[in-house]
Amino acid sequence: MDVFEVIRNRRSVRTFDGTPLRAQDAQRILDFANAAENPYQLPIDWVLLDAKTTGLSSPVIVGADTFLAGKLQRVPCAEEAFGYAFESVVLYAASIGVGTTWIAGTMDRAAFEKAVGLSDSEFMPCITPLGYPADKMSLRETLMRKGVKADTRLSFGEVFFDASFSRPLTPETAGKLLPMLEAVRLAPSAVNKQPWRVVVSGDRVHFFEKRNKRRSGDTWDVQKVDLGIALCHFALAAMECGIPITFEREDPALSCNEDTFYIATYRLG
Ligand SMILES: Cc1cc2nc3c(=O)[nH]c(=O)nc-3n(C[C@H](O)[C@H](O)[C@H](O)COP(=O)(O)O)c2cc1C
Repeated sequence: MDVFEVIRNRRSVRTFDGTPLRAQDAQRILDFANAAENPYQLPIDWVLLDAKTTGLSSPVIVGADTFLAGKLQRVPCAEEAFGYAFESVVLYAASIGVGTTWIAGTMDRAAFEKAVGLSDSEFMPCITPLGYPADKMSLRETLMRKGVKADTRLSFGEVFFDASFSRPLTPETAGKLLPMLEAVRLAPSAVNKQPWRVVVSGDRVHFFEKRNKRRSGDTWDVQKVDLGIALCHFALAAMECGIPITFEREDPALSCNEDTFYIATYRLG
């Protein structure tokens, strides 16, 4: 697949044409998911769910008969690992003409968790419908997209920085990183919040999470899933450009706002 083309053309699909997911497409997606890697090397269990036999549905999804869910152990960095792997599956599905929508909120979570046989030590951050996009979006989908400004993204200088958070990076100064950063900028995120902030410092590209909500108790953080998605887009784009990168987790201790948290780094080379 041409990664840049798929990233540019992917969008959340909430209105499907009602054609059942072809067995061959279901198998290709499941095979891809089972082979998908993540830089945290956490194993993920993938489950295809038949909407008709399980009675599962999402109030925002119309015309899809299959859902894909993933579950993994509740361990540190599980959200980022899940985000990375699930997004690689979402992009693969898009490349073979299958529509998806990341869903963390608009579902009967208890019913889906039961259907995937979730154990106490596991969690299932998100699911997606799988199917073929309808020609026309439902009114609800159109309104939802307007509500979260789904067709827009923050500007380059709002999310990318040059050595410190006080210096925005520009497309002109991004050099060979430009296509990789643009791939990050276009990524999907929960409520389209785009919580990724990236500081480029020498040969290192540091990823941070700008958290919108304070976390409470042991609840998981959906915005860390978004950061996993951003890491995935960067890595796939780097691969496409033939630029070798190495994953690291070494907090550069940059000065930043208290709502901003270090996630991970890609070293060039
Ligand atoms: C982690 C995550 C969770 C999401 N949860 C939901 C959801 O519960 N319901 C929904 O309709 N869309 C959900 N979305 C889709 C986003 O609203 C969507 O990706 C964003 O608005 C950008 O639109 P686009 O995907 O069409 O580019 C989620 C996206 C992500 C990445």
